[in-house]
Amino acid sequence: MAPRASARALLACLGLVVAGAGCAGCTARKDPPADAAGGQIYEFQNCQNCHGRNGEGTALGPPLAKLSSHWTRAALTQYLADPEAAARTDERLGALANAYSGRMTRYDNLSEEQRSVLAGWLLERHP
Ligand code: HEC
Repeated sequence: MAPRASARALLACLGLVVAGAGCAGCTARKDPPADAAGGQIYEFQNCQNCHGRNGEGTALGPPLAKLSSHWTRAALTQYLADPEAAARTDERLGALANAYSGRMTRYDNLSEEQRSVLAGWLLERHP
């Protein structure tokens, strides 16, 4: 029974990838330690799966570049928790969402403090 159940879970995951819904559930997303630095949160939450290890982008997500021309730290902190809302109202983000086969994942699993640390790190690294 167990092997069949996991095969079904794998198929469900593949289906999500094919449907372009991203696959946050099947790529190991680990809870970062409460005091994790931005780079560690990025890695633990598996952002590199779509944006690449150095933010260079993949077929699933855009390169992370020139972020400070679009985001304040506060806005980016908020965005990470609810990217769908932003993609609906911001034309540039909406176009980006359609251009990649992934979807920016919601990170409302992270505390606001952790999202802020991550946002600060992203802006420093990809200004
Ligand atoms: C399943 C793929 C996927 C994952 C995982 C993912 N993203 Fe994204 N991300 C996208 C896509 C696609 C977009 C384009 C906008 C959209 O879809 O809403 C995006 C947009 C963004 C943007 C806005 C870029 C800009 O030009 O303004 C930032 C910043 C970002 N992601 C950071 C992250 C961080 C940090 C993580 C991990 C905590 C993460 N993403 C995880 C796919 C992903």
